[in-house]
Amino acid sequence: MKVCVVGHGGREHALAHVLGRSCDVVVTPGNPGIPGSTSTPATEIDADLYVIGPEAPLVDGLADELRAAGGLVFGPGADGARLEGSKAWMKELLVAAGVPTAAHGSFTEAEAALGYLDTMGDLFVIKTDGLAAGKGVLVTESRGEAADAVRSYLSGEAFGEAGRRVVIEEGLTGPELSVLAVCDGHRAVPLAPAQDFKRIGNGDVGPNTGGMGAYSPVPVAGDDVVAEVMDRAVGPTLAALRQRGIDYRGVLYAGLMLTPHGIKVLEYNVRFGDPEAQVVLPRLRSDLAELLAGAAAGSLTTVPEYGPDAAVTVVCAAAGYPAAPRVGDPIVGIDEANAEEGVTVFCAGVAPAGDHQDGRRLNTAGGRVLAVTGQGPDLTTARDRAYAGVTHIDWPGRYVRTDIAADAVQGTLGRVAP
Ligand code: AMP
Ligand code: GLY
Repeated sequence: MKVCVVGHGGREHALAHVLGRSCDVVVTPGNPGIPGSTSTPATEIDADLYVIGPEAPLVDGLADELRAAGGLVFGPGADGARLEGSKAWMKELLVAAGVPTAAHGSFTEAEAALGYLDTMGDLFVIKTDGLAAGKGVLVTESRGEAADAVRSYLSGEAFGEAGRRVVIEEGLTGPELSVLAVCDGHRAVPLAPAQDFKRIGNGDVGPNTGGMGAYSPVPVAGDDVVAEVMDRAVGPTLAALRQRGIDYRGVLYAGLMLTPHGIKVLEYNVRFGDPEAQVVLPRLRSDLAELLAGAAAGSLTTVPEYGPDAAVTVVCAAAGYPAAPRVGDPIVGIDEANAEEGVTVFCAGVAPAGDHQDGRRLNTAGGRVLAVTGQGPDLTTARDRAYAGVTHIDWPGRYVRTDIAADAVQGTLGRVAP
C-alpha cells in the first residue's frame, strides 16, 4: 500500500515511521529529517490512503477535496473538524450530547464576558474560539489577568480573528489524560492512553506550549477509565455528529481531566496529538495502515493491539520557545541518539543546514525541534532511554523539561493541573 501523510512535524514523522513498517510512505511537505518527504502537494500524489496530520488542513477542507477526487482519506471533513476549529461549537455539541465538560460561557462582547468572570470561582480559564497553535488558553487565579486576556483576545490584538470570540470555562483540577480514538463514522476504538506536558517549565509552570513531552501507558488510566471515556464521551459525541449529518472518519482526540467528580472533556482535537503520537504509535503491535484504511473506508474491522511495553518522549525545543524561538542553529547528535537502544528521534522544526539538502545536516527551524522517544519494557526504562538519547542532542540554547514522566515512574497519580 502507498500512503501519503500530510504535515511537517514530529507527529507526521512518527506516523510515517510506523506506517513504514508495512507500506511505502510519502510525506508532504514533510521536513528534511523525515525520509520520503516531498514538496508535491497531496492533491497531486497518487496514493492508496491519505492520512492528514495537522488540524489546519482538516479545518480548511483538504479531506473533502481528496475524497471528492476519489481518495481514501483518514481525517474528518471540514464539518467534523469544526470540533477543533471552534471551541464554542464544540462545547455546544458536548452539552447537547450530555458529555461531561466544564461549565462555560461563550462571548464576543467584552462587557458580557467580564460580567461572567464575576460569577466564577477562583480559577479562570479563557480560550480563543478559533485555532491558536495550542497557545490560546490561559488558566489563571487572577481575576485581573483573566480580564486583561478577555480584552486582548476580543480586540484581536492577541490572536487575531481566532480570539474575537472567547470561551470562558470553570477551572477544573485533576490529572490530565489524552485518549485518542480511531473512528469510522459509526464505530470508535481507543488507542492506548497518553499523558502530555503542556507547560514550558518543570513542575508545570510558565506558558502553555504545543507539548513538551508525553508518555504511554498511563498508570492512572486503566481499562475501566478508557471504557468510561468511550461510553460517556467519545460514543455520545460520535452519535451527536452523526445526528448532524457528519460522517466522522479520523482521530477523535479527547483531552480529559480526571476530576474528583469523574472524567470531564477539556477539549477535542480532530487529529493525532503531538507529541502523543510519538509515544502511542511506536507502541502499536498491530498494523497501523490496516487500522486507518479501515476507518477511512467506514468499516473498522481491526482493533489496535498493544503489548505491555512503554514509551516516553522528550521534546527538545529552541531557545526562546514558546514566545520567540531562535532558529538557524546547527543540530548535533541525532545519529548518536538513534543508535541508543530503544531510542527514535522524530524531527519537527528542522531545515537543511546550508547546502546539505540530503538531510544529513540540519539546523533548527522552529520552536519544537525534535522529539526523542525511548521505548522499553516499563516506564522507568523508557524514560531513562529517552533522556539518554537527549544527552546526545545539542545546539546553542537547546531546552528540555527534565521531569517528563517523573511522577508516573514513581507510581503517583501524575501531574495535577494547573
Ligand atoms: P485545551 O487546549 O483546551 O486542552 O487547554 C490546554 C490546557 O489548559 C489543558 O491541557 C489544561 O491543562 C488547561 N485547561 C483547559 N481547560 C481547563 C479547565 N476548564 N480547567 C483547568 N485547566 C484547563
Ligand atoms: N499535545 C497536545 C496536542 O496535540 O494538541
